[in-house]
Amino acid sequence: QQALTGDLAVPADEFAEFAHAVERIHADLLDERSGEVADYIPTLRDADPEKFGIAVCTADGQVFSIGDTAEEFSVQSTSKPFSYAIALEQLGPEEVHRWIGQEQSGGPFNDPLLSLGRDGRPHNPMINAGAIGTLALVDAGKDQSGRLTTVQETWRSMTGERPQLHGSTFVAERDTGFGNAAFANALAKVGKLYGASPTDRRAPEDANEFYTMVCSLTMNAERLARAGATLASGGVAPLSGRQVFSADTASRVLSVMGHSGMYNDSGQFSNQVGLPAKSGVSGNVMMVVPSKQMAVVVFSPRLDAVGNSVRGVEVCKRLVNEFGLHPY
Ligand code: DON
Repeated sequence: QQALTGDLAVPADEFAEFAHAVERIHADLLDERSGEVADYIPTLRDADPEKFGIAVCTADGQVFSIGDTAEEFSVQSTSKPFSYAIALEQLGPEEVHRWIGQEQSGGPFNDPLLSLGRDGRPHNPMINAGAIGTLALVDAGKDQSGRLTTVQETWRSMTGERPQLHGSTFVAERDTGFGNAAFANALAKVGKLYGASPTDRRAPEDANEFYTMVCSLTMNAERLARAGATLASGGVAPLSGRQVFSADTASRVLSVMGHSGMYNDSGQFSNQVGLPAKSGVSGNVMMVVPSKQMAVVVFSPRLDAVGNSVRGVEVCKRLVNEFGLHPY
């Protein structure tokens, strides 16, 4: 119907050409084996490093998938833009940014020294301290399972499926997440953990646990591309047409992804690719192409030194070069 009226986000012939390029790039990079899988917990250490999938989804639900796009993985840090979106929807930007900054951190996602600014706020919602602080704002006052349900249902609205907790990933992250526990405690100490008070010892523990649960939600490249397409289209889910976030929320989330989504290679990535993207240590990269109302998700577990999927970054670079997608 939309094709007949010429209303497609990307014209069908242009989408076919893009899909062909994705297929060729996927074939070209099958032999790319540099990088190492994350090794800090068993489920990530045991991931098959050969897995490689690329999924594309447009705002109006045109999809293309090649390779291991149905392979399930824990979403990890690619949950962060969406947690930020939920907080913005619930509280508005002014309140959210009383607690969390919106600047580059200049350090790794888990850096104990470079995570909090002088005013005590984490630099932005894409680093661990910022994501912990952001999630503390979501459904404050509800119990943990109710809060998790809110996050899962938001993902369901975007992707059509309710993501489940990857149990062994969650338990391992929780039992070894000493750095994240320290962030939650540091935020409480400086008065920047929402809901924490001198009489409530549980608040930092709860905040860390909630963050860990959200990182452990199970995703695959196809569904994550639908979530990315939701951001690409001003907050409208590609398959259902439902407005999940306001256009203002989507714009703010993409802006922060644009400068801080790719760990401490974000500046270089912005230089070379110029599009908002977010990566997670399970080996996923979600890139949003606002001008085409489209998202591209790559899953390939081998990571570079800062924690980005090697093939994921390379796919982004090649697509941007080939189609002139760098906006500046
Ligand atoms: O919190 C952590 O350190 C892990 N769950 C890793 C999350 C991730 O992908 C890297 N974070 N920005």
